[in-house]
Amino acid sequence: EEQQKRRLIRERIRDFPDFPSPGIIFRDISPMLKDPVAFKTAIDLLESYIKASHQDIDYIAGLDSRGFLFGPVLAQRLGVGFLLVRKKGKLPGSTESVSYALEYGKAELEVQKDAVKPGQKVIIVDDLLATGGTMRAACELMTKLQADILDCLVLIELTFLKGVEALKPFP
Ligand code: PRP
Ligand code: ADE
Ligand code: MG
Repeated sequence: EEQQKRRLIRERIRDFPDFPSPGIIFRDISPMLKDPVAFKTAIDLLESYIKASHQDIDYIAGLDSRGFLFGPVLAQRLGVGFLLVRKKGKLPGSTESVSYALEYGKAELEVQKDAVKPGQKVIIVDDLLATGGTMRAACELMTKLQADILDCLVLIELTFLKGVEALKPFP
């Protein structure tokens, strides 16, 4: 049954070659988001994984912007709070930032310094892992705040880019 769920989601992700730059095959989740059954199935799979693997979670942290499609609804289902990990320049107050490279560019992620207290338990959520640059930057940010990273979750992994290797130091 889990295989069927995964198949449904896979069927609703389409490829756009050479977007946003030559040589990149862009995985577009728009058809999945448009199909309420597929979208719910994706959230169900992430939720059951988290519930089977972790207890005592303080926060789900979502990565700007596509991580915001999955993180808040998961946080609500789990009854925990949601943290914004944003692209640079969007958050007021005192922040930490980390710059990074991703499959098709460079960017900087930021979090408010008071987002978590040392030792609080966080699960980081994004839509897709490519080179792992984005997820790694998020892990580095959470580490700067002394958060306890329980897990890093994505719906899609582009395995050929070996993003998990960039995440070796993190769960
Ligand atoms: C995309 C995707 C991941 C990241 C993965 O985000 O949503 O966050 O790239 O790539 P990486 O593993 O090579 O770092 P993008 O920065 O394009 O912006 P968006 O989420 O705002 O669409
Ligand atoms: N983010 C990084 N690489 C990507 C890809 N190939 N498709 C969609 N989002 C991405
Ligand atoms: Mg993103």
